Amino acid sequence: MKLTMRLGPRSYDIILRRGALGRVGQLVNLSRKVLVVTDSGVPQQYLSTVLAQCPQGVPVVLEQGEGSKSLAVTERLCTAMLQHGFARTDAVLALGGGVVGDAAGFAAACYMRGIDFINCPTTTLAQVDSSIGGKTAVNLAGTKNIVGAFHQPCLVVADPDTLATLPPRHVANGLAEAVKTGLIGDAALFELFEKGGAQQSVEEILYRSLAVKKAIVEADEREAGCRAALNFGHTIGHAIEASRGLARRQLYHGECVALGTLPMLESPAVRARVRRVYRALGLPVRIRYDGDEIYSHLVHDKKAANGAITLVKVKQPGSYRLERVPVEALRAVIGDGIG
Ligand SMILES: NC(=O)c1ccc[n+]([C@@H]2O[C@H](COP(=O)([O-])OP(=O)(O)OC[C@H]3O[C@@H](n4cnc5c(N)ncnc54)[C@H](O)[C@@H]3O)[C@@H](O)[C@H]2O)c1
Ligand SMILES: [Zn+2]
Repeated sequence: MKLTMRLGPRSYDIILRRGALGRVGQLVNLSRKVLVVTDSGVPQQYLSTVLAQCPQGVPVVLEQGEGSKSLAVTERLCTAMLQHGFARTDAVLALGGGVVGDAAGFAAACYMRGIDFINCPTTTLAQVDSSIGGKTAVNLAGTKNIVGAFHQPCLVVADPDTLATLPPRHVANGLAEAVKTGLIGDAALFELFEKGGAQQSVEEILYRSLAVKKAIVEADEREAGCRAALNFGHTIGHAIEASRGLARRQLYHGECVALGTLPMLESPAVRARVRRVYRALGLPVRIRYDGDEIYSHLVHDKKAANGAITLVKVKQPGSYRLERVPVEALRAVIGDGIG
């Protein structure tokens, strides 16, 4: 399956196909210097598959985990390119999940003010969501994605075969973003989850999620308006993710987003349906926290400008509305926990 992100001169193809990782070189020019960025948790066999197609490939294996989204890693990647004499016509290829994609994409955006970026996502989260749309970033001083750039890839190759090695908790973590996408933009996608058997319909889930995100990004590439809908569940979700008080639970991004969607559902009946879906996927549906700490993260959220924040709310699966509220109004919504 192929989708094309239509963004004028920044348009690109998104290839979703089993076995596609072995054919990246047929889709884009790899006969140039290519910085192949992956991390220590991505099975070696995928790196070998890619490097076999890159005669001048320079592999960099980051430490797995969110800690690799740092300016130190940006410096390491740019230094590697400089030392290997990369020119503006060379490329960066990300092979991994959202962490590798965000870190490698940001280095591609920075090096020589922007070189080609090829994204080969290997987690569910990256295949349904983070690999398209052009948002790249690293974290700084405990604040997520605060230093970044819009830098669209020139090609995205999602090979569902790579998900076979992904631990089940990471599979579910990524599917949380697909549930989110269904809730804001595709009722049939949400219903696929309600029918159960997400594993059997994984390709349809990936395709439908990418199609919804593609349409939103095409309408609002730099998040001046409707792209904010993709942040559904992320306002409180990011605050949970950043909470030091919750650090021992080591919740993943998608798990935090799943929790964050629940207070933003405007109908108790829909909330019950969403909870059922989350439970079936093994995602969390309740959490206790220090509400003051969660609130303090929200106040510092980069999306809270002039004391107000835009919330994404869903009444019925498949559509959303944006609501601008004073940040203080969120203290009551946060309470002492969810569920
Ligand atoms: N740029 C965007 O638009 C966007 C959107 C959503 C999320 N994100 C970011 O994505 C990140 C989370 O991404 P993630 O959930 O993919 O996490 P991740 O990149 O940390 O990957 C999860 C783990 O799976 C391992 N792994 C990757 N592929 C594998 C495979 N095929 N088999 C076995 N193990 C594999 C990795 O080594 C890692 O340990 C967060 O930093 C989040 O902020 C970015
Ligand atoms: Zn997300």
